[in-house]
Parts: sequence; C-alpha cells; structure tokens
Amino acid sequence: MKNIIKSCIFILATALVSQTYADDEMTGYSNGGVESLRGSTELYEVSDPAMMKNHQADRKPYEPQFVFQPPLIPHQVRNYEVDSKVNKCLSCHSFKNARDSGAPRISVTHFESREGLALADVSPRRYFCLQCHVPQVDADPLVENDFEKVESLQ
Ligand code: HEC
Ligand code: HEC
Repeated sequence: MKNIIKSCIFILATALVSQTYADDEMTGYSNGGVESLRGSTELYEVSDPAMMKNHQADRKPYEPQFVFQPPLIPHQVRNYEVDSKVNKCLSCHSFKNARDSGAPRISVTHFESREGLALADVSPRRYFCLQCHVPQVDADPLVENDFEKVESLQ
C-alpha cells in the first residue's frame, strides 16, 4: 500500500514539473505575435520549409535593377561545390580560368579586403558566392511593391 502511495506521489510530481515546463515553453519563449512571410511560428517550433522555386535551365541573364546589384546567376548551380578546399564557381569565373571557360570574370571588387586593400586572390568575404548571387527564377514578388529601376539603368 505504502509503495502505491509513493508511486502516486511520484507520478503527480512528475506531471506537475512537466506541466510547468510546458507552460514555460508557451510563455517564456513566445515570438510575441511577430509574423514573418512564412506565417506565425513560435520560437520552439520548426516552421514549414519554403516551397522550392522552379529553377530554369540556362537562359539570358535578367537585367539588373539597381547599381551594384550582385548579378543573378543565369545558369544551373546544382552540385556546384563551394567549401574550404574547392570552389566550383571559380573554376570558370576566376581571372585565370575565365578566358578558357568563356564565363564573365569576377570583378576587382571581389579582391578587396574589408579594409579596402586589394588582395592577390579572392577576398574571404567574397569567397562564398551564393551568399550574394542566387540563381534567377520566375517568381512572384514576396511582397507587393512599386519599386522602379534607377534612371541610370533604364
Ligand atoms: C562551367 C562554367 C561555370 C561554372 C562552374 C559557373 N559558372 Fe557562372 N557563368 C558561366 C557562364 C558561361 C556565364 C555567362 C552566361 C551568360 O551570360 O549567358 C555565367 C554567368 C554567371 C553570372 C552572371 C554574371 C553577369 O555579369 O551577369 C553569375 C553571377 C554567375 N555566373 C555566378 C556563378 C556562381 C555563383 C557559380 C557557382 C555556384 C558559377 N557561376 C559557376 C559559367 C560558369
Ligand atoms: C558579398 C557579396 C558577394 C559575394 C560573396 C560574391 N559576389 Fe560577385 N558580385 C557582387 C556584386 C555586388 C557585384 C556587382 C558589382 C561588382 O562588380 O562589385 C558582383 C559581380 C559579379 C560578377 C559580374 C562581374 C562583372 O564585371 O560584371 C560575377 C561574374 C561575379 N560577381 C561572380 C562571383 C563569384 C564566382 C563569386 C564567388 C567566388 C562571387 N561573385 C562572390 C557581390 C558578391
């Protein structure tokens, strides 16, 4: 009988503790009602992944929309590896390889260090190309806007 009572108390205590923990989850880490383009997701939840865009086969580059825009990538980049040892993009776009590959060379801004010094090779801050350049896709704007190109590009 004593054992049964002990077990009951134990189960009750565990239930209380986990209830408090669950309450903490609900209030302590709330996103405060902030909603993103993917809807409202609490901080402890995993949001639904964005839909994959339909990547097109190689096609003409889209026109740039503003000065110093990183140009969009007009070709497929699937399985193009970029890590600390290899950079597939540079095998075509580096100064050395561009002539043979026929790809446009990276511009000299890609050699500048954060302090504005010209380096002898691609600057670490321009090494991970896909940080700034993304493949172009036919996609609706994420939010409605009336953006217009700067005059110099019209
Ligand atoms: C096999 C060679 C090759 C590889 C590898 C390659 N590219 Fe390209 N890339 C090209 C060629 C050729 C063009 C020009 C296509 C055109 O203008 O129609 C181009 C165009 C571009 C442009 C547009 C440049 C502009 O001025 O409009 C960007 C940006 C670009 N590539 C980025 C990348 C990135 C980032 C990677 C790696 C993920 C990569 N490329 C890998 C050959 C390559
Ligand atoms: C930090 C952002 C950033 C990163 C990282 C970056 N780029 Fe760029 N890239 C730009 C911008 C901005 C431009 C357009 C203005 C300029 O030339 O600086 C550009 C221009 C280009 C162009 C067109 C050059 C021209 O003369 O028209 C090519 C090709 C290119 N990048 C390829 C690459 C490749 C390949 C990598 C990776 C090794 C890379 N970029 C990494 C921002 C970036």
